[in-house]
Amino acid sequence: MNRSQPALFRQQAEACDELGSPMYAELLAALADDLEAGGPTARVLRGHEDDPGPSGLALRLAGSIHRLVLAGEAGELAAAYPTVGGTWSTAGVPVVLDFLARRGDEVRPLLDHAPQTNEVGRSAALVGGLLRLADRWRHPVRLFEIGSSGGLNLQADRFRITDRAGGGWGDPASPVLLDRAWEGEPLPPAAPLEVVARSGSDPQPVDVTTEDGRLTLTSYVWPDMSERHARLAGAIELAREAPVAVERADAASYVERLEVVPGTLTVLWHSVMWQYVPRDQQEGVTARLAALGATATPDAPLVHLFAEPTRRTPEDEHRFWVCAEAWPGDGEARGGERAFLGRMAPHGVPVTWE
Ligand SMILES: C[S@@+](CC[C@H](N)C(=O)[O-])C[C@H]1O[C@@H](n2cnc3c(N)ncnc32)[C@H](O)[C@@H]1O
Repeated sequence: MNRSQPALFRQQAEACDELGSPMYAELLAALADDLEAGGPTARVLRGHEDDPGPSGLALRLAGSIHRLVLAGEAGELAAAYPTVGGTWSTAGVPVVLDFLARRGDEVRPLLDHAPQTNEVGRSAALVGGLLRLADRWRHPVRLFEIGSSGGLNLQADRFRITDRAGGGWGDPASPVLLDRAWEGEPLPPAAPLEVVARSGSDPQPVDVTTEDGRLTLTSYVWPDMSERHARLAGAIELAREAPVAVERADAASYVERLEVVPGTLTVLWHSVMWQYVPRDQQEGVTARLAALGATATPDAPLVHLFAEPTRRTPEDEHRFWVCAEAWPGDGEARGGERAFLGRMAPHGVPVTWE
């Protein structure tokens, strides 16, 4: 066993604790101990001892077990998993270890899947940023996304978002509620966003209209984070009523085909995907946007909006910022100058606008 693997599990346990999952904080710490002691966890993970940290072995193992629970194939774990009506407690630890001891062979093949998520809460950042910018032109919006995963955030205009001051935006009857999601500087008075075209892209798109796609996205959301699960389920419900196309493409090749169209605002947005894009593709996206921006006019403007970990100044730490660039013209965010609009929590809610 690579001595660092239990340490990586403990690191992930701490991150889960900080981000609001006491269940995974406790479970992953216990799995780390069991791994170190050569218990069932070590047997299930045989061959993965040297998997690199960024491959997220702890989350792959936890997600694999969760997938079997969600699929109704691990009834003995149901009492411990809140996503299927159970309640997590410390008593769940030996039950999971016993499951790994008896049924580890069913878990092992699932470990090869990379964790794949689509965080619906990040729509709070993307919609808020767009409301701030779209107010300038008031054109119908053509919305495009890179790193879309299941494309759920391309439906952001169909969600309900409320702020901490008691205001709200979007359809009150939407199955997706991003509650108390905005704070700080108020956004412009609520104008409707008219989205006339939308499409996304991802090298590994998830088809949320299938049961396999639903299980994939649901299994990697930590089971005791009920608000994240409610948002995800609501967004999948909407997508099944009106599917959004997500084509299999990397960021650079997709953006290469973007065009601006008179009478519409063209928006390219993305969240928490840039770090996975190889440098040459990043440069391709940036160059294409600058070239497209040079052709943008007040009648055919272009906005690049993103919620990504980045530094505001070279001395700063990486934080989740909502940023925008817009073409044409001068002023904040115009002519491609990057504006920092607000800070986002890692899973999206809340966003603090500046
Ligand atoms: C952490 S997920 C975020 C998904 C979604 N944007 C969200 O905020 O929920 C990162 C996504 O980036 C995608 N990705 C990885 N490499 C990429 C690339 N070269 N170009 C575009 N997307 C990429 C992954 O497939 C994955 O869907």
